[in-house]
Amino acid sequence: MNPLAQQLCDTIAKENPHVYEMLSELGKQIYFPKVGILSQSAEAKAKANKFNATIGTALENGQPMHLKIIQDTLSAYNPKDIYEYAPPAGKPELRAAWKVKMLEENPSLQGKSLGTPIATNALTHGLSIVADLFAGPGDAVVIPDKNWENYELTFGIRRGAELVYYPLYNEQRKFNADALRSALLAQKGKGKAIVVLNFPNNPTGYTPGPEEGNAIVAAIKEAAEAGINVVAVTDDAYFGLFFEDSLHESLAGKLADLHPRVLSIKIDGATKEEFVWGFRVGFITYAGQSEAMLAALEQKTMGIIRATISSGPHPSQTFVLRALQSPEYKAQKQEKFEIMKGRANKVKALLDSGKFGDVWEYYPFNSGYFMCLKLKTVDAETLRLHLLDKYGIGTIALGETDLRVAFSCIEEQDLQELFETIYQGVIDLNKVASK
Ligand SMILES: Cc1ncc(COP(=O)(O)O)c(C=O)c1O
Repeated sequence: MNPLAQQLCDTIAKENPHVYEMLSELGKQIYFPKVGILSQSAEAKAKANKFNATIGTALENGQPMHLKIIQDTLSAYNPKDIYEYAPPAGKPELRAAWKVKMLEENPSLQGKSLGTPIATNALTHGLSIVADLFAGPGDAVVIPDKNWENYELTFGIRRGAELVYYPLYNEQRKFNADALRSALLAQKGKGKAIVVLNFPNNPTGYTPGPEEGNAIVAAIKEAAEAGINVVAVTDDAYFGLFFEDSLHESLAGKLADLHPRVLSIKIDGATKEEFVWGFRVGFITYAGQSEAMLAALEQKTMGIIRATISSGPHPSQTFVLRALQSPEYKAQKQEKFEIMKGRANKVKALLDSGKFGDVWEYYPFNSGYFMCLKLKTVDAETLRLHLLDKYGIGTIALGETDLRVAFSCIEEQDLQELFETIYQGVIDLNKVASK
């Protein structure tokens, strides 16, 4: 093993042997080169006041070389904040600003040890770093039956992990913490499990309430007490879009110092929260560990980043940083929140009007971008195709019964027509079936 990787592993094993046991083979081997091009270049940036001939970029007139046609469209920004490579862990000011935001919005993280968020090429990349560092062939990744499909590729196909599913809702239409507990305890033989918690949930738009949140945390604690090392990942992609009285913060806080066998990792980012899907700015943050452990995990994370994308996009990091620092940021976000909440409320009012109950029910939702219908009489994929072909309406079919509707994409005044047309689509298919 490379001596630097060995050093990091030794630190991790000394600080918390359970976290060491959680590492995948790749997670053990990876390290961030301390004496490579990047570190020599960083040293030169600080000290080489005559000529700096270290890094593979280009300078002209004391600033990054650039084309006028590009700079003309970005003239609000200084070339140094756009063209230079961002550091592998992200722009330091952005990382600091995101941490401030995270602490403000998640009081349960306050007073706990918390790493500085490491910038990723958005949330998918953060999840894939978790997979690289912690998931190996046969490791269990415990997720609800209603989930974001990409976990399958990230953890299953890429890393050979085994996806273990539990029902998201119980009979009371609340989060099924008992099922989570059973799915976790079933991993006792493996001694390890990766749990991905995603609230607001994609595809259902569900966030548990405070009691349900406590039950989730208790289930994870019980698994840890049973000797299972739990990598507890919160995928907070839709964070902040809480329209009702559910939890309004990430469970990463409560998971942070829950038990020595629990490692809390928060995955979040600007993608959905700041409505910048194509910018590719996200973060991975480790919580509830010693400073030495946080530093070692940061080095391992930077190793994966260096080995895969080298560094994230600098312009987008600059754009997001400027937004976070702007005095208008909170007011503008609130405005968008109200629009999304208005849409969610409208959808609920329509669905509760009693007009559609014969053909579908809907899964409980209270947050995020989506809601999900559970169809009673027609196949979801058949309906999806029919809606597309006959009415020009796009939805997502999930399994046999579920149809995901992204109300985030539909203006409030169009929602009635949308749901009435989906209903009409079902009626059309019912008629065909009864002929
Ligand atoms: C639950 C969830 N996590 C992560 C992502 C990925 O986000 P990003 O586009 O930032 O990679 C999505 C995107 O659809 C998502 O729904």
